Parts: sequence; structure tokens; C-alpha cells
Amino acid sequence: MGQRSYRVAVVGATGAVGNLMVQVLEERSFPVSELKLFASARSVGKSLAYRGENLPVYELTENSFKGIEVALFSAGGTVSRKFAPVAAEAGCVVIDNSSAWRMDPKVPLVVPEVNPDALESHSNIIANPNCSTIQMVVALKPIQDAVGIARIVVTTFQAVSGTGKRAIEELRAQVSALVNGRSVKPEIYPHQIAFNCFPHIGAFLDNGFTEEEMKMVNETRKIYGDPDIAVCATTVRIPVYYGHSESVNIETRAPISVEKARELLAKAPGVVVIDDPSQARYPVPLDAAGRDETFVGRIRKDPSVENGLAMWVVADNIRKGAASNAVQIAETLVARHLI
Ligand code: A2P
Repeated sequence: MGQRSYRVAVVGATGAVGNLMVQVLEERSFPVSELKLFASARSVGKSLAYRGENLPVYELTENSFKGIEVALFSAGGTVSRKFAPVAAEAGCVVIDNSSAWRMDPKVPLVVPEVNPDALESHSNIIANPNCSTIQMVVALKPIQDAVGIARIVVTTFQAVSGTGKRAIEELRAQVSALVNGRSVKPEIYPHQIAFNCFPHIGAFLDNGFTEEEMKMVNETRKIYGDPDIAVCATTVRIPVYYGHSESVNIETRAPISVEKARELLAKAPGVVVIDDPSQARYPVPLDAAGRDETFVGRIRKDPSVENGLAMWVVADNIRKGAASNAVQIAETLVARHLI
């Protein structure tokens, strides 16, 4: 019997993540019988390459989902809030990359290596977690399973591609202006991003944290199904195009040696350990860019607490942190006959 194939849509196809979703569907040979691309009215007339063809981009409307079986959304929260229920109602399974639906108790929030079983109860909307959360929960999953994690303190170093196409352009334009002696005026970000960094991703909330930091707290708890896990995050934007890095410090519920943690990580799905500091070997964003795995290094004992470990975690934020995770969710739905 031949493999069944699916009518698929990408919403936000002209964006940094949407464009990559199209590419990842092709790379991973997702069984597509027809692919339809949607964006705003501004993009009508554009086309994108897929399997050697140029596919037209259509304007997203309420009628876009007729006959579509799977839709990957990456067009921002406003579009997702409005159109994901329309698509779901039309019988289409939505995998949504925005934060609009992530904390809805009826919506599974899924990283396939971590909590694929959550997909079983879906009712046509599935949320793709925040990029910084995805790579952290992939890296910590084997340790959570082995000994339990009581507390996580994480600082992120996040690439501009997470903000979208215009932010990538802003960094490029600022670098070019500054090396040529011209001044710059920030537009997308609150500060100059070239040759700078700032601890400000998303809006500041009343508790002093940012939205991005609270996503890491709340989404980690939901994905692990562990409301008691304590998380303190500081999220920082840095002038890198692709690849988020994270300094992750954990306190485990039971003791675990560095050797055991390294052994568990080395065989965890989706994880690659690069940990030979004497040879300057540890993960860096330039090496992680374009890859789907999560890279872990600098694994060491934290001597300041009883059961402490520190590590460094890097992944491509628009691949594993967004497009590839969304396509992996679609693959898992197919494998489990959930679409
Ligand atoms: P468009 O290119 O037509 O503006 P990024 O995150 O890289 O900025 O990309 C955002 C994506 O979301 C783009 O594909 C953008 O399309 C799309 N988008 C933004 N607003 C809408 C909208 N109202 N309807 C459909 N797509 C939208």
C-alpha cells in the first residue's frame, strides 16, 4: 500500500519561519499531495520554490482552508487567534507557531522528542512552543526523566531571526552602516542591535520579567506536565542571525553525576553532545545554524548547591525552535494516525 499524502497549507509563507517551513517540508519529504501558500494581501503576486516549482502566494481569507488537511501557521498571534479556529472548524489540523494558543488547556503544546503523547487528545489546534523553550526541554528531558528537576536558572542569547525577516535586515543594515562610519537609528528593536545586546525580549510584565521569560517558565511546566518545576529566565537579544544559545543551570531532585548526565544526553533523541573544552569544542550558533538537532556542551557540576549541574545549549531557533519542530509534529500526527 502506498503512503497516504496530505493537502498542506503554510500560513505566513513569506516570513522567515514560514519560508523555512516550506523548505523543511521538502527536505524531510513530508507526504504532500498539494501545498498552498498564504500570506497577507501585500504578498499576492509573489511565489516560492517548492520541489522545483514556483508556487504562488495567496491572500489568507476565511475560505482558505477548504480541503486543506494540515496547516502550519507562522503569521503572528493576531492571525492565529482569528484564523486557527476557522481552519480547525473546516476540519484542518493547525500546527501553530505563535504564542496565541500555547497555554490553552485544550491545546497540546508539543515537542515530539519530549511529549508526543499530548498529541493524542488534540482537537485540531496544536501549539508549537517558544523557540528558547524547545531547545531547553529537549536538552533537559533525559535528566528530568532520570532524576527529576527541581529548579532551572536559564539565561538566553537569542538570534535576531526569531523576530522575523525585518529584524534580520535591521542587523545587516546596521552592521553595514556602522562599519562604513554612518550612524544608525533602531526601528524594530528598542536599541541598536549591531555590536550590542539587551535583556529585553517581548514586553515587560508587572512582575519585572518579560513575556519571553514567562513563556519559558509556563511552557516548560506544561510540556513536562510538572507544575512544580521552578524556572527563572533572563532572555537576551544578541547580534547573531541564526541560533539561540543558553546557559542552563539546574538543581535536580536526586543526585546525578556529570558522567551519567553526559551519557544520557549523548543517547537522547535530537541531542548532540559537543563537550571537549580543552580542544575549544562546545556548541556555537554558527555551527548549529541549518541543523535540526539541539547541541549541548560545557556539562559540569555546579558546586554551589547540593545537586547542581550547569550546561550550554545551542540550537537553530527557526529550525528546531520553529519550522522543523512544526514539521516533526506533523510527521508524528501521521505516524500515529492522528490526521
Ligand atoms: P506578508 O509577507 O504578506 O506581510 P515575519 O515573522 O518574518 O515578519 O513574517 C510574518 C509572516 O506573516 C509573513 O508571511 C506575513 O506576510 C504574514 N502575515 C502578517 N500579517 C498577515 C495577515 N494579516 N494575514 C496573513 N499573513 C500575514
